[in-house]
Amino acid sequence: MERFLIEGPVALSGEVRAGGSKNTALPLMCAALLSEGTSVLGNVPLLRDTRTMLRVLETLGAKSELNSDHRLTINAGELAELEAPYDLVKTMRASVYVMGPLLGRFGRARVSLPGGCAWGPRPVDLHLMGMERLGATVELDHGYIDAKAPPGGRLRGAEITFRISSVGATANVMMAAVLAEGRTVLENAAREPDIRYLAEGLCRMGAKIEGVGSSTIIIDGVESLGPLEMDIPPDRIEVGTFLAAAPITGGRVRVVDCVPEEQGALLELFRQGGLEMEVGEDWIEVDGHGGLSALEVVTAPYPGFPTDMQAQIMAACAVAEGVSTLTETIYLDRFTHVAELRRLGAKIRLDGNVAVVTGSRHLDGAPVMATDLRCSAALILAACRAKGETTLSRIYHIDRGYERIEEKLTQLGAKIRREEEPS
Ligand code: UD1
Repeated sequence: MERFLIEGPVALSGEVRAGGSKNTALPLMCAALLSEGTSVLGNVPLLRDTRTMLRVLETLGAKSELNSDHRLTINAGELAELEAPYDLVKTMRASVYVMGPLLGRFGRARVSLPGGCAWGPRPVDLHLMGMERLGATVELDHGYIDAKAPPGGRLRGAEITFRISSVGATANVMMAAVLAEGRTVLENAAREPDIRYLAEGLCRMGAKIEGVGSSTIIIDGVESLGPLEMDIPPDRIEVGTFLAAAPITGGRVRVVDCVPEEQGALLELFRQGGLEMEVGEDWIEVDGHGGLSALEVVTAPYPGFPTDMQAQIMAACAVAEGVSTLTETIYLDRFTHVAELRRLGAKIRLDGNVAVVTGSRHLDGAPVMATDLRCSAALILAACRAKGETTLSRIYHIDRGYERIEEKLTQLGAKIRREEEPS
């Protein structure tokens, strides 16, 4: 196991670029299962999660190669298995994304039911409801989801209304519906950019999809799909994390090669908090020197404020002027970072799904522990602000979603070192 040693305080400043989007790469890797041909993805981030997804695809029998230049080829011409095993699904829930493509192309999928996670039960009932509406029979068997297309092996288009907006269910059902017979209409579909990019990839393969970006998506099923060729766009959560570094540490950070429209909710909060900003066509610069005023943050589906940025913005509120409130509406228990931020001196009170944060200009370094991916990001940035040394253990969490974050932060002036955790 490895850990980070971080020495503060440092005002992180300079220019940085985010890697390819994890949450866009994962479904697009599964979309490659829909074609017999060889798909090629560029700008694939080299992360634990993308490597786990490759292991899932390899378990199915797909041939793949991921190069150090972030280019990934996948050939799923012949598969040996239609089953995603528990050992992999339990380490990464997004493994359930193989269900839609397998069911769509082969008429059968067996996928381990994911367990709960640190911030709640995280069910997959909407994924299953969607597959059933497309005509599949879904049974739960010894911890596995066993889904079968109707006799003849092809799913049938249907009207499907999601009870709540779900990124995963929208993506999974979309990947099943592209090869179904007839038209599928998804109501209350997720509007996240990851869904837009997935639809773009599927359309490049020959799928017929309209309405993407709105909450009604219309899919006209086709007989077969060609291979996928696409570059993964920049990771909007990584972009947001670097932007948050400015108010957390009092520096000035410019993120280049990004998509500013995807940062609307974060930039609006920064504006309300009195930060100076400049936004170009594909870059954003945030100046945190003047300090941030208290914020009222409410997480919501896109274009609302992302739950994946809640921990990082909480670290910013911890050093803001005044009392902020953060309301988590997507994962009501997603607060494992609170106790760790408190160890650095943050003043945070939890009241159900609302965190009340009393800002203080001062944080102190301390030994802390990463409990999930975004929690780790928040702790690293808070540690850069804190006076003295912070040791952050269990950093395998951060490696799930940020490629070599310590190198990018060093570029911004951070004093951060990776080392083996003493046994
Ligand atoms: C995705 C992201 C994750 C992000 C989340 C919310 C990926 C790989 N992960 O996760 O980083 O935090 O979106 O933006 O893209 N729900 C159900 N039943 C279901 C599915 C979801 O009740 O079948 C609920 C969830 O518990 C949650 C809400 O719907 O309260 C939204 O979850 P969802 O959008 O599905 O999250 P994921 O796709 O798992």
